[in-house]
Amino acid sequence: MPALVLLGAQWGDEGKGKATDLLGGSVDYVVRYQGGNNAGHTVVVGDQKYALHLLPSGILSPGCTPVIGNGVVVDPSVLLSELSGLNERGVDTSKLLLSGNAHIITPYNVTVDKVTERFLGKRKIGTTGRGIGPTYADKINRVGIRVQDLYDESILTQKVEAALDIKNQVLTKLYNRRAIAVDQVVEELLAYAEKLRPYVSDTVLVLNQALEEDKVVLFEGGQGTLLDIDHGTYPFVTSSNPTAGGACTGAGVGPTKISRVIGILKAYTTRVGAGPFPTELFDEDGEALRRIGGERGVTTGRDRRCGWFDAVIARYATRVNGLTDFFLTKLDVLTGWEQIPVCVAYEIDGKRVEELPYSQTDFHHAKPVYEMLPGWTEDISKAKSFSDLPKNAQAYVKALEEMSGAPISAIGVGPGRDETIEINSFL
Ligand code: GDP
Ligand code: IMO
Ligand code: MG
Repeated sequence: MPALVLLGAQWGDEGKGKATDLLGGSVDYVVRYQGGNNAGHTVVVGDQKYALHLLPSGILSPGCTPVIGNGVVVDPSVLLSELSGLNERGVDTSKLLLSGNAHIITPYNVTVDKVTERFLGKRKIGTTGRGIGPTYADKINRVGIRVQDLYDESILTQKVEAALDIKNQVLTKLYNRRAIAVDQVVEELLAYAEKLRPYVSDTVLVLNQALEEDKVVLFEGGQGTLLDIDHGTYPFVTSSNPTAGGACTGAGVGPTKISRVIGILKAYTTRVGAGPFPTELFDEDGEALRRIGGERGVTTGRDRRCGWFDAVIARYATRVNGLTDFFLTKLDVLTGWEQIPVCVAYEIDGKRVEELPYSQTDFHHAKPVYEMLPGWTEDISKAKSFSDLPKNAQAYVKALEEMSGAPISAIGVGPGRDETIEINSFL
């Protein structure tokens, strides 16, 4: 049982932080493999609540080594302030490993993210404004800055020059902004170098050696399947691969090492930012899900768009990730509804469609076909086993499992570590 991947099966914010933290106590390494501080993972331990953006949720488990893999984009100022914030709360962060190949989110990447969104106007993506897209664009364009570049001033200066060459033309001539000075950027980046040095390592080697020694490695996805640059609702996506394959490229571990892929699945659906969302609610049910579920972005503070569970999306997530299990979260939020609609298929231009359409136009036209499931009113937050759940809640879980194509191995009934029903062990 060496490597497991834990990822979002919808549009993010499914409760990955809580699920990772729950397993963190039993695994040796927790690895972020993509994304950056666009993520907001909430972990509740006792009466303490932590919001993690860049650090893997395993940082809160003392026996676990947290790793930021090569596929992650790292804003050094965010990383350092997250570390010091945790240190002030008594969390030991000294075991952190940071890949020297991870790309750095520079101040100009953040600027470009913001001005691009402004320029897009009505057509904007609704990004988190953290510089994620422009940093991955630089990586693919081969003008990115990597963590290891901080340790060679001459190379760093040349690379920043190359990156700003075109960008400054665009900023000044197209966006009417001031040019960004190379020296200023280099100086700012160099100031981080020594502070980051203790963490920088060859994480690919460390992780593969750990796997050879039968250590347990957990890959923690950011964002979610439908936000994947290849498999999501493009262009309303993030700029990385949160899907399972991303764990291999983003950490340098072969697919043969991965034995379990766990999809975190909310008992209803949410989305932040722009883009299609067939089951979105604009009525008091949507308002109630937002209120009861506390659906407000951890990173941006934006209200999350809310809707009913969408089984078409869950099936798609099972397929593109090869999911072996689901962890169903926030079932408690649905307590109190007399009947709960679940989207089982779409109607597109008068035809019933069972699978996610690959055409963007079709998906924009998709209307949910609902099946009504009976609700429950009993408080389920203290349930410890599946049989503790009211019959209708059990039936809801079983129906979702049947529709989604993989076993539901755990159920979240509250934000806390212990507010979880474990059905099949993950380890
Ligand atoms: P992530 O980005 O996938 O880690 O998810 P977020 O932390 O952005 O959002 C999930 C929210 O739901 C957080 O506030 C969690 O504390 C909370 N949460 C997670 N699981 C459960 C659950 O089973 N029940 C309830 N009520 N809240 C949960
Ligand atoms: P976690 O890990 C939900 C969304 C943004 C926007 C799109 C692109 O907490 O689940 P970006 O800044 O990544 O270029 O924005 O992706 N987005 C998320 N939505 N949860 C997240 O992370 C997200 N990270 C990015 O709202 O629509
Ligand atoms: Mg989140």
